[in-house]
Amino acid sequence: MPKLAINGGVPVAVELNKFISQWPIFDEDDINAVVETIKSRRWCRLYPGSKAEQFEEAFARYHDAKYGIAVANGTVALELALKTIGVTYGDEVIVPAYTFIATASAVSEVGGVPVFADVDPETGNIDPSDVENKITERTKAIIAVHFGGYPADLDELTRIAKKHGLFLIEDAAHAHGSEWRGRKVGAIGNMGGFSFQESKSLTAGEGGIVLTNDDKLAERAKLIHNIGRVPGQPGYIHYILSSNYRLSEIQAALLLSRLNKLPREVEIKHSNGKYLSDQLRRIGVVKPTRDDERVTKRGYYYYVMLYNEEELHGIPKDLFIEALRAEGVPVGVSYGPPLYRQPAFRRENIKNVFPPNARIPDYENLYLKGAEEFAKRELVLSHYVLLAPREGLDLIVAAIEKIRDNVDELLQVLPKWKEKRTDTWIDTLYKRD
Ligand SMILES: Cc1ncc(COP(=O)(O)O)c(C=O)c1O
Repeated sequence: MPKLAINGGVPVAVELNKFISQWPIFDEDDINAVVETIKSRRWCRLYPGSKAEQFEEAFARYHDAKYGIAVANGTVALELALKTIGVTYGDEVIVPAYTFIATASAVSEVGGVPVFADVDPETGNIDPSDVENKITERTKAIIAVHFGGYPADLDELTRIAKKHGLFLIEDAAHAHGSEWRGRKVGAIGNMGGFSFQESKSLTAGEGGIVLTNDDKLAERAKLIHNIGRVPGQPGYIHYILSSNYRLSEIQAALLLSRLNKLPREVEIKHSNGKYLSDQLRRIGVVKPTRDDERVTKRGYYYYVMLYNEEELHGIPKDLFIEALRAEGVPVGVSYGPPLYRQPAFRRENIKNVFPPNARIPDYENLYLKGAEEFAKRELVLSHYVLLAPREGLDLIVAAIEKIRDNVDELLQVLPKWKEKRTDTWIDTLYKRD
């Protein structure tokens, strides 16, 4: 009789879904906040004391920042930050090679050129030593992503940025609640951007915010985000040519209400993440990201694990994922291959994207070792899985242990599995002609 669920055995973690709430979560307070705002007929932030203003203050306070500028999504949060620091046509901005595409596309959207630096294969975060290799006389800024909520090395990145006179922008789209040396991330660099898209730890379906501690940058960001209007001077005086990045009042009301719950959720995820990592270190096969005592709180967007194919007798990661999912664990991958393998970076697709004076990297032929290794090994659980009680997390551990102990069954099905397997979306991105 087969034991593994992938072969028809009984799934060991079948109860896990009872412990995981459907995301996004909400309660009566959230519903009331939205309904009240609808009834108020104040749906746009263009009046004093708006919900957007209240949310900016509350989120900035929670994230140890002086200022917040609420925006429509996390992508434009980065664009706003880049415009505010003055990134312009042909400027180079160093970004990690492993991230969601918005980290790089925000740069090209403001006329700059994203230059990929390698990532640490143990965390997925930008590798400061490779950042230094990529600096040229055209470099204006560095964007560091706190991948999955694990803060990038802000000590080194701050040192490098200062040494070379560059701006440091934190892409904190994954890092609500994360701390570096006891301080929340997002405004440790010059500016930071967050996303409130539906899958994020704090969400209103869409939304974003830019944080900063710098008075001048805050003032400029506010001006740019509201089509050139100076705060407190509504109406039709516009001081610069700009765009509209504003967040709606309905979203701001929902975010304000959800923000009340966030600190407690962050604590639960931080402590459960630590528990799960301790268990995984004990059983092997997948490894948690490395501990760093400077990371004092992990807010989590992804709980990242690193798969070790050798430890499971050469079973490919995709088969391991299938086996684990069959046991009832909602495991997956994040973004697949390193970003430079996306069709968006092929020569024919970047024609006309960059200004004529730009020096365009040979994206198509890039190969960054850390990013390739991270892509090959990473597995993720969504952050809300960490809101499950410990008995739920124990089922994840039990499922991995079960696969480890019955690897013979996987070895038997491996040849057939390989034969039947068709290309996944990830395989297609690895094909270069
Ligand atoms: C690292 C990173 N940066 C930026 C963004 C962009 O955020 P949004 O989807 O709100 O535009 C995301 C969204 O998933 C992200 O993961």
